Amino acid sequence: MIKVMSIFGTRPEAIKMAPIIQEMERRKNEIESVICVTAQHREMLDSVLETFNIIPDYDLNIMKKGQTLDSVTGIILQGLNGILEKEQPDMVLVHGDTTTTFASALAAFYHKIPVGHVEAGLRTHNLYSPYPEEANRQMVGNIAELHFTPTMQSLKNLLQENKDPEKIYVTGNTAIDALKTTVRKEYDSSVLHWAKDARIILLTAHRRENWGAPLKRVFSAVNKITEQYPDVRVIYPCHMNPAVRGLADEMFGSNNRVRVIEPLEVTDFHNLIKKSYLVLTDSGGIQEEGPSLGKPVLVVRETTERPEGVEAGTLKLVGTSTENIVRQVSRLLDDNKEYERMSRAENPYGDGHASERIVNAVIRYFRNKEMGESISA
Ligand code: UD1
Ligand code: UDP
Repeated sequence: MIKVMSIFGTRPEAIKMAPIIQEMERRKNEIESVICVTAQHREMLDSVLETFNIIPDYDLNIMKKGQTLDSVTGIILQGLNGILEKEQPDMVLVHGDTTTTFASALAAFYHKIPVGHVEAGLRTHNLYSPYPEEANRQMVGNIAELHFTPTMQSLKNLLQENKDPEKIYVTGNTAIDALKTTVRKEYDSSVLHWAKDARIILLTAHRRENWGAPLKRVFSAVNKITEQYPDVRVIYPCHMNPAVRGLADEMFGSNNRVRVIEPLEVTDFHNLIKKSYLVLTDSGGIQEEGPSLGKPVLVVRETTERPEGVEAGTLKLVGTSTENIVRQVSRLLDDNKEYERMSRAENPYGDGHASERIVNAVIRYFRNKEMGESISA
């Protein structure tokens, strides 16, 4: 039996690994699934585990308040050593581009265990944007044995780096698999009651390169917009990172048209996107979910590794200048045609069957390997 260990640690990794874990669970006669969480995030990870009913076999429980990149990397490498030694999985699956992703791939490599990289091939080609994620995904790309790319564009990125085409599978993004299980027509919540009939702008921000002055400019833009448009309410489920939380409280404390709330459970968050007028964010995953739910997403970053959404017309890169954000949001609030154009439901990220393709590819990889070995014996 093939033994696959999934290792992940933050909220977005958990959301996008959950459908794969569920698929492996459905096929437990063919594949044994072992789950290890680093808990680089704690509360935000646990919320996802609970939603998708995932019980980890191992939990490194590493999160510390205000943790640093090097400490997280070091603790994960050391923590995984004994677990990989004991379990000896045939493959380790990691997702995306966090420090957990990179450190776990490196730990597997040190144990000569092949790595399958989920959501592979995303690139901005700028190591500092997003930081450190672009470097993480490139380094994992060099370690990985199998690459599961969400789109043709990410396949092309890997081919340009001379990766073996036989080891790359275009699967779609597992975020879409997850969305299929969370969004409901009849959804309601207390924060929606607060917003009443207002047009809702859903805000999230947490990227390291936006900490400090850029984030302040984004928040100033939000204050200006709510001043200019009395029919707009902003809901901000704030990331738990203290580097973000403090500033949000300071800048929005006296604005009663902005609600800074705790991070939402993922089902609530997906349904809130669906109920929003538009999304303002620097998140990666939300750039996939917004277009899939037909909502315009204005991305407060200088670069994106998700150009497919920009091409489809539902994402726009607006940077972090206060004036530009106010201009772009105002355009969507004032100009119906532009709003309609951007909210046209275009989904470049797959059909919601990515997990099946990934699990199929893993099984096929080991069957072919076994066949190759028996022929050469
Ligand atoms: C991390 C990832 C980033 C990803 C993001 C998703 C790295 C370097 N960064 O960034 O790529 O986009 O997760 O959200 O891997 N905290 C809590 N409870 C939680 C989660 C975080 O209190 O459940 C606080 C802690 O003080 C923690 C801090 O947030 O030290 C930062 O967490 P960390 O994972 O280092 O960075 P993120 O900004 O969350
Ligand atoms: N999300 C959530 N609750 C929230 C905010 C976001 O469940 O309050 C989900 C969101 O739907 C998406 C993921 O978290 O699937 C994105 O995580 P984040 O923005 O933290 O990380 P990134 O995608 O930028 O790495």
